[in-house]
Amino acid sequence: MAKKVLVSGGAGYIGSHVTVELIAAGYEVIVADNMSNCDLTCFEGVKKITGRDDIPFYEIDCCDFGAVNKLFDEQNIDAVIHFAAFKAVGESVAQPIMYYRNNLVSFLNILEAAKNHGGCNILFSSSATVYGETENLPVTEQTPRLPSTSPYGNTKQMCEDILRDVVFATSGSDEPVKGISLRYFNPIGAHPSALIGELPRGVPNNLVPFITQTAIGKRECLSIFGNDYNTKDGTCLRDYIDVVDLAKAHVAAVSRMLDGKMKEDYEIFNIGTGKPLSVQELVDAFEKVNNLKLNYKIAPRRPGDVVAIWADTTLANEELGWKAERSIEETLASAWAWEKNLAEK
Ligand code: WQD
Repeated sequence: MAKKVLVSGGAGYIGSHVTVELIAAGYEVIVADNMSNCDLTCFEGVKKITGRDDIPFYEIDCCDFGAVNKLFDEQNIDAVIHFAAFKAVGESVAQPIMYYRNNLVSFLNILEAAKNHGGCNILFSSSATVYGETENLPVTEQTPRLPSTSPYGNTKQMCEDILRDVVFATSGSDEPVKGISLRYFNPIGAHPSALIGELPRGVPNNLVPFITQTAIGKRECLSIFGNDYNTKDGTCLRDYIDVVDLAKAHVAAVSRMLDGKMKEDYEIFNIGTGKPLSVQELVDAFEKVNNLKLNYKIAPRRPGDVVAIWADTTLANEELGWKAERSIEETLASAWAWEKNLAEK
């Protein structure tokens, strides 16, 4: 029988892509989402891509323990992929209580419900932000985490630690929790069908949605935040990971858990391409592949930005048997196709 995977936050940007890939790999998927940062666009897109109209959908808030526990009562969950969290760095600085409450409580509830139901496999959606302003590049999973610069980043570090502690405490018991944290670098792009993608609310903070919204005319001009950094062209370096590649990494990690292939009960993997790209290179590539001119200017540095960060992906490549495959050109073409599709809606 197909194993059941609960995707919390499954109607969102990464969650919807992961749902598609899990179904393609033969898993039964249950989606839970409180719709606080999305509408039904992506879930409808998932149904179209997969041809499945019967994906169980729970509109619940994972901060509601009763609702989460009831879901576990009703479904025999084999693994959880936990995305349900707030993710805007700036907002987290302004509203720390809201971020700590939401991101920590929802995860604690998932863990407690999982434990109550005889244990489970938990995949936590972590972030390269846990490495802070490190100078050891590229970062490996062993690179020490540095103090985070935002409550958002703190919640990622804390949730990783909570998962590790719960795994440790339940090891060898009747209710074992096993865990994997995936540390994503910069997820970008959209599904090749252009039926699912990123739907930022208000003015986007992240680079690629700002670029596509500028190209379509929703924003007047992109600001490149700083060209006087100590890098090849003066702009910051990041590791931009295609969202479909990222989704496939989740399938590889979940299979590793469900097939009993883990080497430790708690594991961590970097999920990136391993190749740094500068902001200027990304803008140039976007213009070239989509054959358009983007209105942009050089602006002052953005406070809080790290100069450069990219992944050493050896561990994910070797242990998960996964590697990023889509080219930056394909990814940027998909981001633009998605933006154009949204404009027609
Ligand atoms: C990338 C580069 C900017 C916007 C953040 C979070 C991280 C993760 C992903 C997710 C930087 C530059 C950006 C713009 C620009 N979290 N830039 N003009 O900051 O690397 O990572 O998002 O949910 O935890 O910290 O991503 O896309 O904001 O920026 O020049 O309008 O693009 O300065 O160098 P970042 P980003």
